[in-house]
Amino acid sequence: MTHPQPGNPQAAQARAKIEAMKRQFEQKRNIAEALSRITHKIGVYSGKGGVGKTTVAVNLAVTLAQEGERVGILDVDIDCPNVVRAMKVARRPTATDDRKIIPSEQFGVKVMSMGFFQENEDEAIIWRGPMVHNAINQLLQSTDWGELDYLIVDLPPGTSDSPLTVMQSLELDGFVVVTTPQELAKVDAKRSINMIRKLNLSVLGVVENLSGGVFGSGAGEDLAGEMGLKFLGRIELRGDYRDTSRPTVLNSSAVLEEYSAVAQKARDSLAAAAAR
Ligand SMILES: Nc1ncnc2c1ncn2[C@@H]1O[C@H](COP(=O)(O)OP(=O)(O)OP(=O)(O)O)[C@@H](O)[C@H]1O
Ligand SMILES: [Mg+2]
Repeated sequence: MTHPQPGNPQAAQARAKIEAMKRQFEQKRNIAEALSRITHKIGVYSGKGGVGKTTVAVNLAVTLAQEGERVGILDVDIDCPNVVRAMKVARRPTATDDRKIIPSEQFGVKVMSMGFFQENEDEAIIWRGPMVHNAINQLLQSTDWGELDYLIVDLPPGTSDSPLTVMQSLELDGFVVVTTPQELAKVDAKRSINMIRKLNLSVLGVVENLSGGVFGSGAGEDLAGEMGLKFLGRIELRGDYRDTSRPTVLNSSAVLEEYSAVAQKARDSLAAAAAR
């Protein structure tokens, strides 16, 4: 075997490779450390945009907090970081002397979002793969969540680069997949469930949102059955969501009941996954 000599390009390349590996290792360790005091990390995910991921993430987080859990919500939907708006967070997170970021708190939930770092809300950021990776890594390394029972993560939709990057940088315990009663939505949802499975991650179950509207209901439960997954429940389409002053579970006891049922089934799934 020939060893690369100092000064030759091969040696420089080898050194650069080792440095990159070291950095990556350090990043992974920092992230693991930053997330070490969080008991359960749950991703909320869908095959399609606009099915209510952010709504489900926010209301699930607030429901868990209402039940006495210590909860954080992390918005890594870099293209559309809407959690800040949905949670009515007015204050940006604060930074500590040792360069940690303390999440803002609202409705009993700690909130961190890529949206905090956007100059203005209307601006679209075009993220390329490596930028997504770096930004998410940075956010994960720097956030000081403290002790949490649950971290709910709002993911970008679909099977493109962004959700994939998030899933690879952040080890989640499981996913809540959101779908709608439309038959066609099942195709996208299946694709996204298969992506999660390909990454060897687990799906806690399926939620059918916007249930009972013109498309009726049932596709979510069918999907869960077809994919061998737990059905976590139906969240009905309601006018209550038009009031955006607070997460809807705080305005409607019927909606809170729906989310409490979903939360309980998700807990059961987590327990079953841990037992396996
Ligand atoms: N159960 C429901 N009943 C009525 N309206 C709802 C319900 N769930 C969500 N909505 C509304 O649907 C719209 C889209 O929801 P939301 O932003 O949560 O979707 P999303 O999947 O996060 O979208 P994106 O892919 O753009 O991030 C919002 O205006 C929200 O208030
Ligand atoms: Mg969203």
